[in-house]
Amino acid sequence: MLLDLIKSRKSVRKYSPKHIPDEDLRKVLEAGRLAPSWMNVQSWKFILVKSQEMKDLLSELSVGQAHVKNADALIVCIADINAWEEAKITHIKNPALNPALQGENGLLIRTMEQIIYPISYMMLEAETLNIKSCIIGALGNEITELLPDVYTKVREKLGLKENQILSTIITLGYEEEQTPTNKVRKNFDDVISLEKLGNKF
Ligand SMILES: Cc1cc2nc3c(=O)[nH]c(=O)nc-3n(C[C@H](O)[C@H](O)[C@H](O)COP(=O)(O)O)c2cc1C
Repeated sequence: MLLDLIKSRKSVRKYSPKHIPDEDLRKVLEAGRLAPSWMNVQSWKFILVKSQEMKDLLSELSVGQAHVKNADALIVCIADINAWEEAKITHIKNPALNPALQGENGLLIRTMEQIIYPISYMMLEAETLNIKSCIIGALGNEITELLPDVYTKVREKLGLKENQILSTIITLGYEEEQTPTNKVRKNFDDVISLEKLGNKF
């Protein structure tokens, strides 16, 4: 069942003007909130954006991608590095177990890693509600260092604190025109092995 949903899912970049009910948006966000994380640190925040003004600004941040401003709603995903400190896990002294002790770079990588899970959960929950989405990673932030002036403005408007990185935007909306899914993926045997790379499962 879930595999069927995964097989039919595709990134959608053209949306109908129909609005997504708030109760469905809540379900999508709830799926993200319930995602797993290392030591349950939940190093993320999500900002639902529905205003056209903010969508326009976020489209600018996403190097002008039109589907960001044309989506019915956006979920701005924040990788929150501060969460590691707030989680009070300093008593765990082994860096292998505690990402907070893996240095600045390690902490950044781990925080970016965590946020992939809620993003995936939200995308799939949206799909169950027939809400289509597209993950937006091409944007200005601390990682890409693109569009620093726009990013500063966005940070201020969204109320982001230091060490909170806008990692990703999820666009949400109903598909303008139903189109078939064309899954372009590497072959099963090219990515999956048994026991050793190259051995077929
Ligand atoms: C981390 C990440 C970043 C992405 N960034 C963008 C983006 O900035 N703009 C866009 O239109 N699609 C973006 N995508 C969507 C991919 O292009 C898309 O998932 C891929 O081509 C496979 O197509 P499918 O999702 O329809 O199966 C991104 C996907 C991921 C996972």
